[in-house]
Amino acid sequence: MKADEIRKRFLDFFVKNGHTAVASSSLVPTDPSVLLTTAGMQQFKPYYTGEGDAVRDFGAKSTASCQKSFRTSDIDEVGDERHLTFFEMLGNFSFGGYEKREAITLAFNFITKEMALPISYVTVFEGSAAVPRDEESAGIWKELGVTDVRYEGMEDVFWGPTGSSGPCGPTTEIYCKSGSGEDTEIWNVVFNQFFYNGSREDLLAGAAGKELKPLPQFGVDTGMGLERLVMVSQGVKTVFETDLFTPIVVTLPADLPERTKYVFADHGRAIAFLVGDGVRPMNKGAGYVLRRLMRRIIAQGMDTALFAAVLKATVGIYGVLYPELDEAIILGVFNDEYAKFQKTMTLGAKELGRMDVVTAEAAFKLFESYGLPYEAIKEMAPQKTASLTRADFDKEFEKHQAVSRAGAEKKFGGHGLILDTGELKAGSEEELKKVTRLHTATHLLQQALRDVLGAEVEQRGSDITVERTRFDFSFSRKVTAEELKKAEDIVNAKVREDLPMTFVEMPLTEAKKTGALYYFKEKYPDTVKVYYAGTSLESAYSKEFCGGPHVTHTAALGTFKILKEEAVSQGIRRIRATVE
Ligand code: ALA
Repeated sequence: MKADEIRKRFLDFFVKNGHTAVASSSLVPTDPSVLLTTAGMQQFKPYYTGEGDAVRDFGAKSTASCQKSFRTSDIDEVGDERHLTFFEMLGNFSFGGYEKREAITLAFNFITKEMALPISYVTVFEGSAAVPRDEESAGIWKELGVTDVRYEGMEDVFWGPTGSSGPCGPTTEIYCKSGSGEDTEIWNVVFNQFFYNGSREDLLAGAAGKELKPLPQFGVDTGMGLERLVMVSQGVKTVFETDLFTPIVVTLPADLPERTKYVFADHGRAIAFLVGDGVRPMNKGAGYVLRRLMRRIIAQGMDTALFAAVLKATVGIYGVLYPELDEAIILGVFNDEYAKFQKTMTLGAKELGRMDVVTAEAAFKLFESYGLPYEAIKEMAPQKTASLTRADFDKEFEKHQAVSRAGAEKKFGGHGLILDTGELKAGSEEELKKVTRLHTATHLLQQALRDVLGAEVEQRGSDITVERTRFDFSFSRKVTAEELKKAEDIVNAKVREDLPMTFVEMPLTEAKKTGALYYFKEKYPDTVKVYYAGTSLESAYSKEFCGGPHVTHTAALGTFKILKEEAVSQGIRRIRATVE
């Protein structure tokens, strides 16, 4: 059975059983506590807690979807037989509708009848101090004729929460055999019975002050990786041998090592989907994930021609179902990043050549100065990095993020930049003055665009160099010349008013109540700075969470000029502007 047929069968089966099919949400979630969408349940979080009304919104208490998902946790595993970064997750969900018996029976019928696949064994929750052993699920499986029922603990069969808090609960998992004869977990059936007021790490560590509280209604949340199901159904040994990947893999040079081919295929596909959903390479957030994927494969020999071929094959497989995969835009983003990385990679390689052993600190410096991500450093110098671990590198990275969030950071590194916040870059005091003016102009521009185009305008990215500010924002159509002119005029009027530009520092929760704009993808620290243009925070024309730096008075900006407006992807526009 082809993958397209399997995806369709899944949704048809659940619709036939009273579910409403719901389209995949974006890989970039609305939940600010999560970087990327990792599971089908994410878009349904409010329906578990009772904040949302599924009957009103979907016409039923149960839904089914095929959700675009991305897991950075598996990045190092990619290239083995079944781990992926991007994948499609099939799922059925119930919000106060059916419970364990029906959820398990539906899963059993889909696998054994619709797909005609034998189940090797299932796992159920062994119990903990707070949650009883799941004898009920075990009993249901046995009634259905599945005799191999294994008990496992919190680590494996207790799901969630995603983000900083959320629904969670015990799960039961289904294992089937792939073409290699190995048992593979294919379906995770979660019973969302609790709400936890902390993260998954807190939950596993038993953090103080956090507790599992029963949800007002019983929730079901299931997730089955489409690629794995297809692998099992098509009787092949790896996900890369399924028809979701073979057209991509055949575009790669035959003499590449198998693992490299798989990494190229996985990352190439993932890059296409991330860019399709509006993510752009950056040094933080989801943009950083994208940059890592791109630079990792470039360091291993992926070039623009090869990427174009991988992309073409990807769009060939997914283009109809996911029209956001715009080949020209994705290729443009890759080629830009490729050119940027080529420039710095040579310098980075030289620096790497001078080192004997690469410590986590040195590796982070290489990333900071030359844009070499962890994976690229590992690929470029396997021996010197033998004792370098991802955990240590990440620690360095987090240290830096904390510092750069707290305020603009001046660096006097080997590459000559005196300021690099990820968003702003300057190589001299003079450049610093210019990018600072452009930075303040960018704040005014965002507010002016909201004045002219409405609150649909939200920042999606910003990149400021000495030549220009480049501001990406959500908006569903082309901005007309008249609208651009209006926005430009507003900014210049605010410049003439010579508004003071200053900040207050306050707790995150308070800051969110001020009406200040913030980048909703970003994970902010507990205390943030709110920069505002105006005489008081209440009356300010523009307010944003920001680390600075900014001018002290808007008259310092000079004349603001919009240079260009264009599409970046479906629903995302880009404006380049400058000050003179
Ligand atoms: N939300 C569950 C998972 O992603 C089903 O595994």
